[in-house]
Amino acid sequence: MTATNRQLILKSRPKGLLAPGDLQLTESPLPELKGGQALAKVKYLSMDPTMRVWMVVDTYFPAVAIGDVMRAFGFAEIIESRHPDYKKGDRVTGFTGLQEYAIIDDSVKRQFQKVPKIPFVSDTVFLGVLGINGLTAFFGMEIPQAKKGETLVVSAAAGATGSIAGQIGKIQGCRVVGIAGSDEKCSWLTKDLGFDAAINYKLSNWKEKLAAATPSGIDINFENVGGDIMHTVLDRMNLFGRVVLCGLISGYTKGDPGLESFGTVLVKRLRVQGFIVIDFASRFMEAATQLGQWKMFGKLKDRETIVEGLEKAPDAINMLFTGGNIGKLIVKV
Ligand SMILES: NC(=O)c1ccc[n+]([C@@H]2O[C@H](COP(=O)([O-])OP(=O)(O)OC[C@H]3O[C@@H](n4cnc5c(N)ncnc54)[C@H](OP(=O)(O)O)[C@@H]3O)[C@@H](O)[C@H]2O)c1
Repeated sequence: MTATNRQLILKSRPKGLLAPGDLQLTESPLPELKGGQALAKVKYLSMDPTMRVWMVVDTYFPAVAIGDVMRAFGFAEIIESRHPDYKKGDRVTGFTGLQEYAIIDDSVKRQFQKVPKIPFVSDTVFLGVLGINGLTAFFGMEIPQAKKGETLVVSAAAGATGSIAGQIGKIQGCRVVGIAGSDEKCSWLTKDLGFDAAINYKLSNWKEKLAAATPSGIDINFENVGGDIMHTVLDRMNLFGRVVLCGLISGYTKGDPGLESFGTVLVKRLRVQGFIVIDFASRFMEAATQLGQWKMFGKLKDRETIVEGLEKAPDAINMLFTGGNIGKLIVKV
């Protein structure tokens, strides 16, 4: 057994993007495994924008304490067990933290889920399309009760959650328009994923392009970004439209929720619903089965951006805010 564990510890609460030293790489000896514990080797770590939020404020989870291993969701394999429910070779997803090894005992067991070995299915899908992002898109797209022919606009559309939400919108019969930060991303959305249109919000005329792509207005907004993008989308919404408030990433590094549009919500009589995917934990298996079937039958396509090395995790977190990823961003430990 390896004697040391490399971990990324939260040293200071970032202001803006993560600065060198906000997360500090440390090595500590792996403790001897006690009865009732299992040792998991972390193989992949999910990079999630909310990690940046967990570094600074209490939300649905308390903020990570200074000096603690940074909270993160990961995929791991049990390599040694003195816990009756785990055996060597079991594969789990859960809150491993940004580290090479995690110890699972009854105090944290609830936060871990065993995952099956499925032929021809990569381990990383359990962090993306069959993991948090697929589930978020699935439950988020239940909220508006989309009707065939309605227009859905998804922001951060080429990311892990947005790309799945948009494809679910297509399965539900919507006209789907994505908003993303590069021509390459937009081309992936329309050519590979079947979006009806995709708008690069970094072009100066993107608002005109959005208007041209939504000739009948917008009925549903799956919102991942907030700020000016959300404001512009809400301006084009039809009366009584529905807004699925999934995330507000444009505000996460500014400490500003980026909600400037409540006048529009009122005037257009919009229905806005926020949600957090963990609210639906009791239905995760049902959703993962459906997502898996769609993936198997080619109705859902996914893509991953993989960064190698635990020490690269701070840079990877920043990539989420600079748009460096297409699809699911994962660190291979
Ligand atoms: N409610 C829930 O339970 C739940 C669960 C998971 C995720 N979320 C939310 O879902 C959203 C997407 O998360 P994800 O994990 O799927 O990440 P992601 O979309 O794979 O990555 C984030 C993307 O956001 C875009 N972005 C970043 N800053 C932006 C800005 N200022 N303006 C416009 N676009 C910006 C970037 O793409 P571009 O190149 O297009 O800019 C980036 O690639 C986040 O808001 C996250 O908090 C919510």
